[in-house]
Amino acid sequence: MLRVVSLSMIACLSMFYSVHAETATDKAQEAKGANDSDMRQLVSMPEQARRLMQQDMLDHLAALNEIIGHLATGELVTAAEVAESRMGKSAMGKHRATGMGPGRFMPLAMRNLGWGMHESASEFSRIAKTGDVKAAYNALQKVTASCVACHYSYRTR
Ligand code: HEC
Repeated sequence: MLRVVSLSMIACLSMFYSVHAETATDKAQEAKGANDSDMRQLVSMPEQARRLMQQDMLDHLAALNEIIGHLATGELVTAAEVAESRMGKSAMGKHRATGMGPGRFMPLAMRNLGWGMHESASEFSRIAKTGDVKAAYNALQKVTASCVACHYSYRTR
């Protein structure tokens, strides 16, 4: 029940973000995807940026999997390190030098969701280091909520 409630909250949040993402570029992108039955907003980016984002995404998923494993075996400090280095604020801007960092092609609302994910991964890292497993799981759910919110709102193809 709780899960259903929080999922629908996320859906509402995503709608909120989508509604507030209305800039000229967004409108153009929306028009392009208008014939689609897919309700997510299409965000176009250069192929190279899309590929970098795809690699990052796969690594986020793998990192998440590792974090859950470390939490299950009580290795909270390792979980914290994985989160900070691969999803936290330390992981931001690593493609900046290439000029193809995916963030610069995202509408602001989407970028905010991305920043939110990095913030919450760093916050998880901080909390996990205190050794409080329950609080750590709670903080981790804020990270996965960012994944869900963004995936429910945007697509790149
Ligand atoms: C700021 C938005 C955003 C956030 C936050 C986000 N993603 Fe994504 N992710 C996307 C988009 C957009 C795609 C491409 C989906 C599409 O075009 O169909 C994607 C694709 C993926 C894919 C598929 C990669 C492939 O092989 O094509 C995985 C796996 C993934 N994300 C995992 C995650 C995980 C795990 C998190 C959270 C820790 C996360 N993402 C957070 C936007 C986001």
